[in-house]
Amino acid sequence: MKNLSIYVHWPWCKSKCPYCDFNSHSYKQYDEDEYIACVLAELDRVYANLHDSQKSQKVCSIYFGGGTPSLMQAKSIGLVIDKIKSLFDLTDNIEISTECNPTSAEAQKMQEFASFGVNRVSIGVQSLRNDLLKFLGREHDASEAMQAIKYAFSAVKNVNFDLIYGLPEQKLEDWQSDLDYALKVGTPHISCYQLTIEKNTAFYNLYKNNKLIMPNVDTQAEFFNYTRKFLMENGYENYEVSNFAKDGFECKHNVNIWQYNSYIGVGAGAHGRYINAHGDYLATQNIKSPSQYVKAIKEKGLAYSKTEVLGNDAISFEMLLLGLRLKQGVNLTHLEEITGQNSDSFMNKQKLDLFLKEGLLEKSGDNLRLTEKSYHLLNQIIEELLV
Ligand SMILES: C[S@@+](CC[C@H](N)C(=O)[O-])C[C@H]1O[C@@H](n2cnc3c(N)ncnc32)[C@H](O)[C@@H]1O
Ligand code: SF4
Repeated sequence: MKNLSIYVHWPWCKSKCPYCDFNSHSYKQYDEDEYIACVLAELDRVYANLHDSQKSQKVCSIYFGGGTPSLMQAKSIGLVIDKIKSLFDLTDNIEISTECNPTSAEAQKMQEFASFGVNRVSIGVQSLRNDLLKFLGREHDASEAMQAIKYAFSAVKNVNFDLIYGLPEQKLEDWQSDLDYALKVGTPHISCYQLTIEKNTAFYNLYKNNKLIMPNVDTQAEFFNYTRKFLMENGYENYEVSNFAKDGFECKHNVNIWQYNSYIGVGAGAHGRYINAHGDYLATQNIKSPSQYVKAIKEKGLAYSKTEVLGNDAISFEMLLLGLRLKQGVNLTHLEEITGQNSDSFMNKQKLDLFLKEGLLEKSGDNLRLTEKSYHLLNQIIEELLV
């Protein structure tokens, strides 16, 4: 039985970090009650748009992402969870996550969030070195992050740290000490992101003008390989390219989406993918601007800036792209069920045979997956494999 996931976007942050291109807006003022009322109305409206087969699925994960959803009042989180409960059945072991910025005021709210059902907290630690935090334009310092981590663990046992590596002045020892700290406090999940320079960010302008010099590809690879080896030796599974978890602590929300199950995205700029009342696979994207989002919901009930009915080619491409990121790979039976076509028809047969022969891909039961040899070659493999 397939399960459904729900993503709820909170689009505001205290300030905009210079590397971030997420849909996050530095706030002057906003009306939280109005925004949440729109999210609730949108959930009703999207529910009405769903195919019956989707309405009968259980919700296995709710993810409050941002932006900085830890700025929300706990009662708002409660209202959204209650609305979802009124529409759908939930799985017994549903995962309800909130991203949290590690400033003390927000971290102290974690207990309250937990009392409304949140059982997983993802903290944007980024680094535990004050000079690097400053470089990243963060609002918190290392001691505040450590305090936030304590608060998070006092509220829930499923805690994730986001950490960033590959910063210009970062040494492997700096990174090692971040990872050591994560191990010392026993966080069961660690997301390790390589710093990427995204368009429309302050870092992009610096980078373009040679004022920010990024580490070269070999250094980045050295950090990645080191991280993978170190965390795997210490009991973490590298279950997705950037994600490491102890057994049973993989992020259910992301895994469900990467396995190409349906998800609904509500809130400004949120994405979704579900089967609509006509039986089409629909990819949705909401208006990014919070005020325009609110206006559209009030006027029309929905705030899509873009929708696309996905054909078999788009589905197979996305399924392979997402599924191959996972250690367990992509399930070819699922791909065939969705598209009604043989999975071979989406792949270059010669390339597939060659990659299998060379040990760059392997089949395990119904799953096709990358191997130890090809883990870092995902993009090249996809490019050559897809017809
Ligand atoms: C949506 S952000 C939310 C977390 C929360 N707002 C915070 O910053 O603490 C999710 C994560 O993406 C990562 N991230 C964002 N932009 C990035 C970039 N350009 N390169 C690498 N990681 C990035 C950061 O680790 C961040 O914690
Ligand atoms: S990294 Fe987090 S806090 Fe910084 S702007 Fe992006 S979403 Fe906001």
